[in-house]
Amino acid sequence: MTDWIRKPEEFEYIVEPDVFHDLFGHVPLLFNPVIADYIQRYGQGGLKAEELGAGEMLARLYWYTIEFGLIREPEGLRAYGAGILSSSGELKHSVQSPEPQRLPLELARTMRTRYKIDTYQQTYFVIDSFEQLFELTAPDFTHLYDQLRALPEFGADSKPLAARTA
Ligand SMILES: [Fe+2]
Repeated sequence: MTDWIRKPEEFEYIVEPDVFHDLFGHVPLLFNPVIADYIQRYGQGGLKAEELGAGEMLARLYWYTIEFGLIREPEGLRAYGAGILSSSGELKHSVQSPEPQRLPLELARTMRTRYKIDTYQQTYFVIDSFEQLFELTAPDFTHLYDQLRALPEFGADSKPLAARTA
């Protein structure tokens, strides 16, 4: 966990995670048992992904869910990702702005989509429930990684990039 906190003028958005991000953004979600199980399963997958050189693909799933995930609820679109919840500016951008792409969370697409680390996201992935997130997260994505390595990636703006040559 981090040990510093943003200045008042940085309240809307900061690049580096601070203690406000950790405590306000991450901790409440960990009290949800389905999310806690998802994180555990994700961690198991992380060990496997490291062995397979697929850490970057799996990291994108974390980024677009636990950090910048959106969820569709009966009342409308809501944010659950800690990166959004700890940024009042990105909260409005992600849920209300017409600018970003909002796509249904789909493993293959999410793992092929790059992301921004220094500005608001241009693409968000939307889930219907935390149960959906848990169900689609297998502890071993070996087969999926093999398929995805042969396919082109998408930029953070959701536009397809040229096919990888190596
Ligand atoms: Fe975080």
